[in-house]
Amino acid sequence: MSDPQAKPHSSKLEILERKNQEALLGGGQARIEAQHKKGKLTARERVDLLLDEGSFEEIGKFVMHRSKDFGLDKEYYLGDGVITGYGTVNGRLVYVFSQDFTVFGGSLSETHAEKIVKIMDLAMKNGAPVIGLNDSGGARIQEGVVSLGGYADIFYKNTLASGVVPQLSAIMGPCAGGAVYSPAITDFILMVEDTSYMFVTGPNVVKTVTHENVTSEELGGASTHSTKSGVTHFSCANEVACINHLKQLLSYMPQNCEETAPAVPYEAGNEARPALDNIIPENPNQPYDIREVIEGLIDTNTFLEVHQNFAENIVVGFARLGGRSIGIVGNQPAVLAGVLDINASTKAARFVRFCDSFNIPLLVLEDVPGFLPGTDQEWRGIITNGAKLLYAFCEATVPRITVITRKAYGGAYDVMNSKHIGADLNYAWPTAEIAVMGAKGAAEIIFKREIAAAENPEAKLQEKVDEYQQKFATPYRAAHRGFVDEVILPSQTRQKLIRAFKMLENKVATLPRKKHGNIPL
Ligand code: HXC
Repeated sequence: MSDPQAKPHSSKLEILERKNQEALLGGGQARIEAQHKKGKLTARERVDLLLDEGSFEEIGKFVMHRSKDFGLDKEYYLGDGVITGYGTVNGRLVYVFSQDFTVFGGSLSETHAEKIVKIMDLAMKNGAPVIGLNDSGGARIQEGVVSLGGYADIFYKNTLASGVVPQLSAIMGPCAGGAVYSPAITDFILMVEDTSYMFVTGPNVVKTVTHENVTSEELGGASTHSTKSGVTHFSCANEVACINHLKQLLSYMPQNCEETAPAVPYEAGNEARPALDNIIPENPNQPYDIREVIEGLIDTNTFLEVHQNFAENIVVGFARLGGRSIGIVGNQPAVLAGVLDINASTKAARFVRFCDSFNIPLLVLEDVPGFLPGTDQEWRGIITNGAKLLYAFCEATVPRITVITRKAYGGAYDVMNSKHIGADLNYAWPTAEIAVMGAKGAAEIIFKREIAAAENPEAKLQEKVDEYQQKFATPYRAAHRGFVDEVILPSQTRQKLIRAFKMLENKVATLPRKKHGNIPL
């Protein structure tokens, strides 16, 4: 029997201390300096910045790879290129992995993948978000298929965890090859400008196959993915900004799909917002910025816009209203008149599905003249892609409220969270126009013969436009049918919304029993 009074052998403590120091050093001082020279933080510095001070508990610090080929039998680093564990962000539990570029370029080995999978399993069992800080040269080339298998294990877990716990991916260096698909399955991607990039095949392969000359930055930098492809939801000026964004994003989300959206303490006051009465221009064809409406409605400075520079004809993001997290989807009349196109539909659909997965109520601000016409949109599948947004709203069971600020025309009226597809409440401002199409187009079709036969066709057209406008370009037809619950003043809207979301806070709605639906992907 061991003597409980006996001190542990001092040399054993020294070994542990040495190993701890070794693990902290990653790929060594020279490589850490090289990382800093590139303007990048190390994997550990990133974890320290992200988590509350002193809260990090590392798991798998002494893991080493099992490879023997290509000299790897002589080259080992404790932790094997990824730091994994758990800690807190503003007091809330999160699981984190941070790839260490100083160890084999952060490349993914079999054991590196096992460490990531281990914390994802813990996150799912314990119901807390997973945050990935990605900085990796992709599959560890020396390991061959076992590293590919490791990636597949991660993709599989990402998919199982999707909708169970929030998954956030920050790209803080290269992310090439199959490495991009794990972030792509997660809920949000954040990229750092100038030091991160994502692509399936890099510039060299592109040159060989398509003869295009393109830099890494042009092909897959933060600017490209935040404006052209929409792959990243946020483009951050530097790593510190990126980590601050991660923390802010987390603050709007529940820990898992069983929790309600978080709320911060809020004391009700005078909720009237007179400035909102002056935002919609007299001329219905004049643009205005929907962000002004958003800012006027929500708690001060709480809007976190998602996909800010992609598909700018629709604005989506998180905010707080009366202290509670909500998701906002708003048509943007200042860009393309707020029309719905392929990119706007897919952007908004994904956001709606995230909010619905994690019990975040939805507010829709509607000012939409319809879907964008043209061969480009039709041939690229506006039908299938527009249907994604329609499907996402139809399926959402969270509290859902729409405010029609101005135009609600055609199919877009149905799609933008109409009562017919399950919205709980639908308000309209007096400036709302709800009709099958704009008055001029409508008059030209239905009074075609009358206008042609008239002595003065132009005057006749104007007369018919005015007639149609008076009858349909108002919210009252819809309100008479109950499709709009109330016509309200812009200045009263914040008060109405606070009360309505409170009234809906215990909403229970279920979908028909099924394995899963088949969203038109
Ligand atoms: C092993 C790697 C590595 C990798 C980098 N290193 N990538 N080791 N496997 N995939 C090592 C380098 O040998 C080097 O080691 C160190 O990391 C730093 O790399 P550098 O090239 O010096 O850094 P840098 O110039 O910044 O370039 C970074 C890089 C480049 C752009 C990521 O290293 C690169 O192109 N790597 C290969 C990318 C790639 O093709 N990966 C496989 C993708 S296919 P030393 O000892 O010299 O410091 C894939 C399939 C997955 O991922 C499929 C899943 C479905």
